[in-house]
Amino acid sequence: MDKIKIIGGNPLFGKIYVSGAKNTALPIICASLLTDEPVTIQNIPFLSDITSLNNLLLQIGTKIDIKEEELNGHLTQTITYHTPQPTSLIAPYDYVRKMRASYYVLGPLLAKYRHVELSLPGGCAIGARPMDIHLTSLEQMGAKIEIKNGYVIADIDERLKGAQISFHSASVGATCNILMAASLAEGTTVIENAAKEPEISDLIDILNAMGAEIEGAGTSTLTIHGVEKLHGVTHKIINDRIEAGSYAVAAAITKGRLELINANPEHLHNPLDILRNMGVSIETTPNSIIVDAQNRTLIGQDIYTDYYPGFPTDLQAQFMALMCVSQGASMVTESIWENRFMHVPELMRMGANINVHGHASAIVRGVDKLSGAPVMSTDLRASFALILAGLVAEGETVVNRVYHLDRGYEKIEEKFRSVGANIQRIKESD
Ligand code: UD1
Repeated sequence: MDKIKIIGGNPLFGKIYVSGAKNTALPIICASLLTDEPVTIQNIPFLSDITSLNNLLLQIGTKIDIKEEELNGHLTQTITYHTPQPTSLIAPYDYVRKMRASYYVLGPLLAKYRHVELSLPGGCAIGARPMDIHLTSLEQMGAKIEIKNGYVIADIDERLKGAQISFHSASVGATCNILMAASLAEGTTVIENAAKEPEISDLIDILNAMGAEIEGAGTSTLTIHGVEKLHGVTHKIINDRIEAGSYAVAAAITKGRLELINANPEHLHNPLDILRNMGVSIETTPNSIIVDAQNRTLIGQDIYTDYYPGFPTDLQAQFMALMCVSQGASMVTESIWENRFMHVPELMRMGANINVHGHASAIVRGVDKLSGAPVMSTDLRASFALILAGLVAEGETVVNRVYHLDRGYEKIEEKFRSVGANIQRIKESD
């Protein structure tokens, strides 16, 4: 497996082009299964999670045409997905195991083709990741669901029926799946306590452009008036707020200055406020953020992860790395996932002072310096946090198991090197 080697100490200066949002691309690619016409999606990032989902769609029978296109100053993928008639309605274990968001085929295939077999994704490093909301909601809409040999087998006789559904948690995944399913249902579906993340609003935009009738984007009550048929469209997905937030922390932790191009500050209110409160200068335009921490003393702040517009759990590890080298104590509380402090022992091996209380809280006491060490990445965002720590640590840090990073951060060494980081990939064969 590849590793990433970083020599710490360089402040980062320059521009970073933020890529298309992975967590928007994944459901939107699956939304293409709701129509037998071609759907063209622009601004898709080059990531292994996208390749994994493409492989699943290929085995379902989707024709995929990939073009590289320069958009807003950087290279992106424009991909056309066309599924005139699926050849399989099964999402096998090998695909779902590699990429949990494969479960986004559940709603579309069931609604359009009345049958789907999806391997249950199971838990992962950050938590149990249940699917009960997806499944009980589909049952409320008339689906017959059976769990057999590790698979969800779902059937409907004719069409799904609109229903009044109330989620016990504002799940992003369940909101996407039920939005897609309800778009082709008979009658009206209302989802209460839906997720409000920008990724959901982007999915609603493409579904409405395909002919769906969905109201309430950006609120916790979504009303979907089912239609009989959806049609093809071209849609450009939003940029990745988590990638933008991750590089914002890179500017802050190295006491540099980065201009994040194609970043929407509206999607990052809470994390940008935390950075400002820490003492970082933040300037914004509608599609860029300048993060300047030169000659600043950074003061630790408390963080509580929550559903959007609260502080995103997907930025918790990166901000914790920043708190490790900021002055004073910071309390970090993780309210979304039950096991999302796996980066803590790795940061401590680099000299961080962190006390974890139970599963949900950690006190970080700022230290003057971290020192480079070999560390192990455990999940996507934790891996980025270890790189951040490596960028300010004295000496050499080697982050092992970087395949996690390739799932969700496009051209990571290239982007970091372009702003002055001393970072390189060590290939398995080297
Ligand atoms: C998505 C993101 C992930 C992010 C998470 C929370 C993608 C591909 N992944 O994951 O990066 O960390 O949102 O912002 O977009 N829950 C249930 N039952 C369910 C579904 C969820 O209890 O059926 C609970 C989960 O245990 C968790 C919470 O709801 O505590 C949020 O999960 P959810 O929003 O579904 O996360 P994902 O969509 O899997």
